[in-house]
Amino acid sequence: MWLTCSSIGRKFVMALTGTCLVLFLTFHVAMNAVALLWPTAYNSICGFLGANWYALVASMGLALLFVIHIIYALWLTLQNRRARGTDRYKVTAGTPGVEWSSKNMLVLGIVVLAFLVVHLIQFWAKMQLAEIISHDPASWDVVNGAPAAPEFGTLYIQLAFGCIWTPVIYIIGFIALWFHMNHGIWSMLQTYGWNNDIWMKRLKCIGLWWSSIVVGLFVLQAVVFSVLAHKNYYTTDMALQEQYSEYWAERAETLNEELTARFAHAMKNAPEDGDRNQALAAFFTSPECAQFVAAAKTISEAAAKQCPDLTIPAVESLAQSAADVEQSIEYAKSVMPNQNN
Ligand code: HEM
Repeated sequence: MWLTCSSIGRKFVMALTGTCLVLFLTFHVAMNAVALLWPTAYNSICGFLGANWYALVASMGLALLFVIHIIYALWLTLQNRRARGTDRYKVTAGTPGVEWSSKNMLVLGIVVLAFLVVHLIQFWAKMQLAEIISHDPASWDVVNGAPAAPEFGTLYIQLAFGCIWTPVIYIIGFIALWFHMNHGIWSMLQTYGWNNDIWMKRLKCIGLWWSSIVVGLFVLQAVVFSVLAHKNYYTTDMALQEQYSEYWAERAETLNEELTARFAHAMKNAPEDGDRNQALAAFFTSPECAQFVAAAKTISEAAAKQCPDLTIPAVESLAQSAADVEQSIEYAKSVMPNQNN
């Protein structure tokens, strides 16, 4: 097949996947700009995308693009090395900066990939992957002593950029990305056929501006996120606290409703005579009641730590229910001594 068998076909695949990755990065930097200017809106977008099917399809498509781009990069490099020693690309550039990048695209790509691995561990694994794996707060990463829901990108920005080494690693990755993108954009446009004398200069200019704007914005974002994270902005800002509190209120309401429904169900099935008290005691000594108390405590503690300046009625009501259930458990254990565990 032309795309795999011929050298120009393979370059075309590199150009096509490269174009998609450049578009992804342009979209990504715009998303980060939302986090910078309007953090609550950013969290809403993260919540909307989350681990929904459309976000998963997009993520898998993106992963496939990266994999194809990397495999073809290795393939082309090996092929060029075999054919022409250390010359990596068929067309060499005129300006010294571009020439250096063109000769080091593989190394630059590897540095970007190393950055990407760290980045995905810091964000994707704790957000989308965590949401796929579990909805239990006990399994999420902890920010300021409270579990951070995967949909709150701002809490993960706090966690990542609160570390002193994060901006350092990111800036190294961004420098490599700038060189890689700068040459990549020019090279891919050339592969599409815009390689006459007039277009050559324009393409270099387009590559330079595009990569500089995108990477420049990433650098700016990393610096601002680091400064704000060190001021604990993402855990103290009132608008964000209110957004986090809505989340915990919703979970508290759901849990309370679940308990009420289970209690109603147990009572409906209980006999009408004296055995009714037995059924009541059996309900309170059941594992689901103990699980309810544990889950309610996790939510109450998380809400108190994540929204310290707010009172959340639904969470307070949940805490009250948990205290009542705990009392009933103790009482049930005393009347049913064989159910002590
Ligand atoms: C200041 C710089 C950056 C910040 C703050 C940032 C932030 C984020 C966040 C919060 C996510 C998780 C989104 C989610 O799973 O819901 C993410 C995902 C991702 N980021 Fe970044 N990012 C930055 C730079 C970059 C760069 C330079 C690259 C590529 C070279 C990159 C590639 C990715 C990829 C591939 C994903 C996974 C996307 C998906 O699963 O759909 N990021 N980033």
